[in-house]
Amino acid sequence: GTSTDNNVDFSSARVIQEVMEKNYDLEALKDRDFNIRMDILSKLKEPLLQIYPDAALELFGSSVNGFGTHYSDIDMCLLLDDEDYRRNNTLAVMSKVQKTLFRLREFQVVYFVRHARIPIVKFRHIPSNLDGDISSCNTFAVRNSLMLRSYADIDPRVKIIGLFWKRMLKICDVSCAAKSGLSSYGFSLMLIHYFQQLEHPVLPILQQLQQQTRSAIMFDGWDLQYFGDVNNLKDVWEGYGQNRSSLGELWLGLLRYYSEVFDFESHVISIRESRPITKLSKFWISNSLISIEDPFLFGHNVGSCLSRKNSIRILNTIRKLRDVFMSQVDSAVLETYKDWL
Ligand code: GTP
Ligand code: MG
Repeated sequence: GTSTDNNVDFSSARVIQEVMEKNYDLEALKDRDFNIRMDILSKLKEPLLQIYPDAALELFGSSVNGFGTHYSDIDMCLLLDDEDYRRNNTLAVMSKVQKTLFRLREFQVVYFVRHARIPIVKFRHIPSNLDGDISSCNTFAVRNSLMLRSYADIDPRVKIIGLFWKRMLKICDVSCAAKSGLSSYGFSLMLIHYFQQLEHPVLPILQQLQQQTRSAIMFDGWDLQYFGDVNNLKDVWEGYGQNRSSLGELWLGLLRYYSEVFDFESHVISIRESRPITKLSKFWISNSLISIEDPFLFGHNVGSCLSRKNSIRILNTIRKLRDVFMSQVDSAVLETYKDWL
């Protein structure tokens, strides 16, 4: 466990905590921001449902997963009733979405990403200046966003550290899938895995809790079940409330875990099992150095787009962050952080 050996001196821990809390206050998605997103959603819903009356348009990603900032992009998904139709016609559906967006005055189509695992239409909502994308029938993404939300709701430290983690990685320019970095989603999974493996875990493994008593929810051959009743976690998780570490300790623990403890060469980051998962056991030997298993679609490696060079760049960045935050964080350094924020 890494929970006990991060006893930074008291004043440093206080400073780190203060910076993280300030970052959270400035960045977190508030109710007001969420309502703006719901408005944008309903503006798109009407014309799209005219074409596909049985469809649903839903938010996913950080607009709903608890790790959102007021400037996060808006991830939307068009869920069609007729799965079979969609499966064979994704590109046709997306091209209709694109045409619809072209007609709407408040929206600007930025790009149609045709040749991706999940084709998306990228747009900008001009009045709010928010970017977004629409995909079709991304059921797994909707589901994992809800599960991430459950994790974020379990303990307030998760969101505070989560937003700071995302922020630091963006500042260091390693968190952007488009620029050959790792997606925010990948970094969020890394964070959850860290909280789960602590000697006194901050987070349980929701896909394992009460697994015996709940039935599988199958989709495309994958099980989507997890324990989502986080208000009653006390009754089913013996580790509940046992981790009392400060924000500063947990933050340093996170940086040290991925710099000193986790073996990237041989292991896969997973949030669905407590036992360590080796690359060998998944036949992921030639996969990316940073390999992250998608929690539901666990044949999918969220880090698969990373070259070895870019994986190493990320690990070096985490190491550098560790060195910065482990060194005496005095009030002068705090002022520098405050300038960043
Ligand atoms: P920000 O937009 O940076 O605030 O974070 P985010 O959590 O919305 O992440 P991002 O926009 O990168 O991804 C949006 C959603 O896509 C995630 O929350 C997942 O539900 C889903 N997703 C599923 N698999 C993948 C994957 O392999 N890569 C990415 N990028 N997203 C995935
Ligand atoms: Mg997003």
